[in-house]
Amino acid sequence: MNAAPGGFRVGLLGHGTVGSAFAHLLPAQAGRIELITGLRPAISGVLTRSSGSFEEILEVSDLIVELIGGIEPAREYVLSAMRAGRHVVTANKQLLSQHGEELWQTARANGVQLRFEGAVAGVVPVIRVVQESLSGATIDRVHGIVNGTTNFILTEMARTGMTFAEALAEAQRLGYAEADPSDDVGGRDAAAKMAILARLAFDTPVHLDQVRYEGIEQIQPDDLEYARELGLGLKLIGTAERIDGGLSVRVHPAFLYPGHPLASVNGPFNAVTVESPEITEITMSGPGAGGPQTASAVLGDVVSAMIPPASTPPTMRVLEIVHDVVSAFYLHLEVADRPGVLAGVAQVLAEHEVSVKSVVQKGLGEQARLVMVVHPVLESRFAGAMAQIARLDVLRAPPRAIRVLEEEFG
Ligand SMILES: NC(=O)c1ccc[n+]([C@@H]2O[C@H](COP(=O)([O-])OP(=O)(O)OC[C@H]3O[C@@H](n4cnc5c(N)ncnc54)[C@H](OP(=O)(O)O)[C@@H]3O)[C@@H](O)[C@H]2O)c1
Repeated sequence: MNAAPGGFRVGLLGHGTVGSAFAHLLPAQAGRIELITGLRPAISGVLTRSSGSFEEILEVSDLIVELIGGIEPAREYVLSAMRAGRHVVTANKQLLSQHGEELWQTARANGVQLRFEGAVAGVVPVIRVVQESLSGATIDRVHGIVNGTTNFILTEMARTGMTFAEALAEAQRLGYAEADPSDDVGGRDAAAKMAILARLAFDTPVHLDQVRYEGIEQIQPDDLEYARELGLGLKLIGTAERIDGGLSVRVHPAFLYPGHPLASVNGPFNAVTVESPEITEITMSGPGAGGPQTASAVLGDVVSAMIPPASTPPTMRVLEIVHDVVSAFYLHLEVADRPGVLAGVAQVLAEHEVSVKSVVQKGLGEQARLVMVVHPVLESRFAGAMAQIARLDVLRAPPRAIRVLEEEFG
């Protein structure tokens, strides 16, 4: 394989949701990638149904990015590229979950890399972590929310009481579900991703046909309502685990207790939890799909394929370090049990423009206390209010404050 002097030629197959985002992202990041790898990447050709020739693009490329999807002709293109000595990056879970062994074998035989971070959980770097970072650990179990469409639908059903059909229509309106959502809502998309994860985590061939899967079409709003009263949340969970010396790989709806690392993954987000005796448990979460998100995972794979040489590039800017940030706070005050205490505290908070979200008065006499949560406020301003509150003669002990994370994702 001969790279152009100083350059690295990337042939792009597919220019749809992910392909077009990739074509936009690569030139924007080319300078930074050159600092990391020593080579400046550029798109050498683009293939769609109506334009471009695979053979001509292959001829002028050092690496092929496959973003066509489906089995054929993607499989043939990926195999041909690797046989011609080109690295390949793909986000095609259907292809890998059904023809992975043939593809990985071809990559090994030709001494090229086949990278596929974007195929599982979008931009969440689960492939790299399972395949590389955790290669020294023995994995016992992998749990994943690996389909953003179904997670969005279940989140909406739980949040609003919508039926499955209504939540699906909402997902389609917002672009979280495709016109034909059957692979997503029926569990087959998640099953393909779990097959790939299981293959890597347990070092054994796993074909999509070996994964048992159920979807979420049968879920009724009252399932979610009753479960909520019990503190349970419903997710479409993929599991791959060792059982009696064998391996189970499955996808089905499951209730989770709030303490489970996947319980708080809402909306179109994905997350994967890896359990191992050496590491206990690692959970990774983030956007599971989307053109720009998946394109960034694909470009990360391109950079990995370009390395070596690997280096930490020099910084390109000096950012100011910010110390005073905005945070919500929980505030716990042990106070005298007499009229006007709350008003006095509220006045100090108001003077510092700290606004109260909720307040409860608890206990009597020596046990009297005010517990409140304040809306996000600049920490320095909150500290000023705290200092003044600490001087109030109605306080029986120094005030206690704990930050509250209020970020909402998805
Ligand atoms: N969309 C996501 O958020 C997402 C997330 C993770 C992974 N992925 C994976 O990324 C891949 C691409 O998905 P996408 O959503 O970008 O698909 P897409 O929007 O449907 O785009 C597919 C592209 O491939 C081209 N194409 C299709 N058949 C072809 C053929 N026979 N020969 C040449 N070109 C062909 C299409 O050409 P035309 O432009 O001429 O139609 C189009 O440009 C899939 O494997 C998908 O599973 C997608």
